[in-house]
Amino acid sequence: PAEAVPQAPEDPLFGLMRAYKADESPNKVDLGIGAYRDNNGKPWVLPVVKKADDVIRSDPDLNHEYLPIAGLASFTSKAAELSLGASSAALAEKRVASVQTISGTGAVHLGALFLAKFYKVDGANRTVYVSNPTWANHNQIFTNVGLPIATYPYFDKQTKGLDIQGMLKALADAPERSIVLLHACAHNPTGVDPSPEQWRDIAEVMKAKKHFPFFDTAYQGFASGDLDRDAGAIRYFVEQGFELVIAQSFSKNLGLYGERAGAFHYVAAPASDATATTTRVASQLAILQRSEISNPPIYGAKVASTVLNDPALFAEWQENLRTMSGRIIAMREALRSKLEEYGTPGTWNHITDQIGMFSFTGLSEAQVAKLRSDFHVYMTKNGRISMAGLNTSNIEYFAKAVDSVVRG
Ligand code: LMR
Repeated sequence: PAEAVPQAPEDPLFGLMRAYKADESPNKVDLGIGAYRDNNGKPWVLPVVKKADDVIRSDPDLNHEYLPIAGLASFTSKAAELSLGASSAALAEKRVASVQTISGTGAVHLGALFLAKFYKVDGANRTVYVSNPTWANHNQIFTNVGLPIATYPYFDKQTKGLDIQGMLKALADAPERSIVLLHACAHNPTGVDPSPEQWRDIAEVMKAKKHFPFFDTAYQGFASGDLDRDAGAIRYFVEQGFELVIAQSFSKNLGLYGERAGAFHYVAAPASDATATTTRVASQLAILQRSEISNPPIYGAKVASTVLNDPALFAEWQENLRTMSGRIIAMREALRSKLEEYGTPGTWNHITDQIGMFSFTGLSEAQVAKLRSDFHVYMTKNGRISMAGLNTSNIEYFAKAVDSVVRG
């Protein structure tokens, strides 16, 4: 069969990571993959995660047994609460089915697989509408399971903000009962989120068209530093009575990247038979999970569970989140003010208007290529930078490099 296998291109983000590692320049700057770095440019093990590690490792009964198919219940129940809110009516009414997944990617995949199998109208799969642009992996996760993809306008190149009119029009024009992928907060790659009022408008159009919301939440607590605020959109949609799904990652907000801790949640619409519906959905999710990964990995889920279930550790986590989001916000301010100080052509307010891990700089593909060849700066060719790669030692170097390539 290998003769029929064409060469595929390298994954752009992991390719960037490899190229950065191979670069021997002492000035190199890594603004590629979305992983938090401290002010020394080093990975940061959250202090609360170190404490959770100690708790887990000091348990004399620690073992390496299988988890149940749906994962660690003490983790998934708290993960659902974190997303939906402890006082969520959906939780009280037992209309939420949660499954532990291989982080956010695994959750998006499980959701995609589930919808490909069960969400059909007149026998046909529904199209998934994703924002233009979106996280590159979304496209291949959905197409790999046979779900067609279409895009809705999102980023306005002029304002470097949200094209809300374009988005609302596309959602209104999409066929009824389409699947709409929404980034719950800290949109990747643009760093542009709808305001609470704009979320209301989006929900209204989606309700009128009976669209199916598919939330991807990988940055809760990272956008504003406030876990509840960053879950606002999801909670609003649930309050509005949508049937929806949520793909949730703990990679960024707990710094558990390689542990692959995440969850998939199905929320049924309020109805007298909603609990029975949820039970049926959970039974099918279990079959899909079993055939794909059998049962999920234990360690990251234990770390997250330890933090989520202990009020003192939970409070410390919130502190750690504020440390990360605060440093990123400080870097946004520093970058904008340097570019404005140099009089770099263009406007730079979008650097501080955008939130979360990324900024969509507006730099062209040619400028990005020049930053790499002349300055050893690594970023994706769409002009996205991971703000966490900037620190007080390299920000001036980066700002001067940007100034140079913008002036040509
Ligand atoms: C990113 O967009 O950089 C992150 O979400 C990492 C990834 O898996 O692509």
